[in-house]
Amino acid sequence: MSRLRVVVLFGGRSVEREVSRLSARTIASALDPAKYDVMPLAVGPDGRFLPAADSRRLLAEGKVPEKFLVLESAGASAKAERAIVPAEIAPGKADVVFPIIHGTTGEDGTLQGFLDFLGIPYVGAGVTGSALGMDKSVFKSLLRDAGLPTTKFFSLSPRERAGVRGQLSAEDLNFHLPLFVKPSSGGSSVGVTKVKRWEDLDAAVDLAFRYDERLLIEEGVDARELECAVLGNDEPRTSVVGEVVPGREFYDYDDKYREDRAKLLIPAPIPPAISDEVRGLAVQAFRIAGISGMARVDFFLERGTERVFVNELNTLPGFTAISMYPKLWEASGLPLPKLLDELIRLALERKQKRNRLSHEPPAELT
Ligand SMILES: Nc1ncnc2c1ncn2[C@@H]1O[C@H](COP(=O)(O)OP(=O)(O)O)[C@@H](O)[C@H]1O
Ligand SMILES: [Mg+2]
Repeated sequence: MSRLRVVVLFGGRSVEREVSRLSARTIASALDPAKYDVMPLAVGPDGRFLPAADSRRLLAEGKVPEKFLVLESAGASAKAERAIVPAEIAPGKADVVFPIIHGTTGEDGTLQGFLDFLGIPYVGAGVTGSALGMDKSVFKSLLRDAGLPTTKFFSLSPRERAGVRGQLSAEDLNFHLPLFVKPSSGGSSVGVTKVKRWEDLDAAVDLAFRYDERLLIEEGVDARELECAVLGNDEPRTSVVGEVVPGREFYDYDDKYREDRAKLLIPAPIPPAISDEVRGLAVQAFRIAGISGMARVDFFLERGTERVFVNELNTLPGFTAISMYPKLWEASGLPLPKLLDELIRLALERKQKRNRLSHEPPAELT
């Protein structure tokens, strides 16, 4: 059998582009060379595709060639010009794309829509699932509609805020302190504030609105943080449950990227009944959001009451050597090369199923 041509798409505009590069490197080196022909393809910080040689160099060395740091408005040189659709993903070139770009445009359905448009199979969730995983307000509304446990929340747009007289107050919200204020679409805890006094709420709201046009105000829970990896299309399976023990007051940006104090415990030291509950909820959340391929579902386990809440769903979890998603699978008996085989198989399976859907009106109508 000939080798499958896999494009590993990485980089991008978001602050997480370095995480993306490290994930892409881990993936590229774990893909079995006997089965796959790996083509790295980078998106520069200005949002344009880099040529093949530069993509390889960026993957290996982490340096973006300078010419790609010029923004289009600054008048890109002819040399730096590249077609909207680079050769690697032109029709007939790649068999499957492994998109590993975090943040907006990478994991919110935008890139997935572009790949659907080109007709190329890709790993992970499709357009709708990606968009739902990215939008915390919509995702939490879905959970609430389905009766799945999630923390109390209130979603707010700048227009709605303007309708609130004066400052947002305890009466408006009817929540207990502390609160968590976060941009509705976001990640890496960017723009997230823990609010312990009502007088600090407005500043937290201003901060979150810098990152998104909608925000969430949530009731804080005093909780342990659990994560579960899900893998599959129609019959998703779950990994063992892991625990993140934040090194700071909560699992914020510094804890995730700047400091090295957060601990991952795999498996989480929790009773089997709680692990079963978490795994069951992870599959339900995966199904409700219509995810295919993979997702990491994150939970809170409230101290004292032992209640479990679904917090969020990540359709593009990190894949660095120390990331939770691949580690959870490794601890569940699926080492990285096998996990990647399975993700690629699922991508091809999903595409085949979609190809079988009709684009014609029913005969009775014609
Ligand atoms: N309702 C909450 N109660 C307690 N802690 C919270 C709550 N919401 C968020 N946090 C803390 O903030 C962190 C980041 O929030 P999260 O919703 O996971 O956003 P992100 O997508 O940026 O990871 C969580 O890992 C947790 O430490
Ligand atoms: Mg999170």
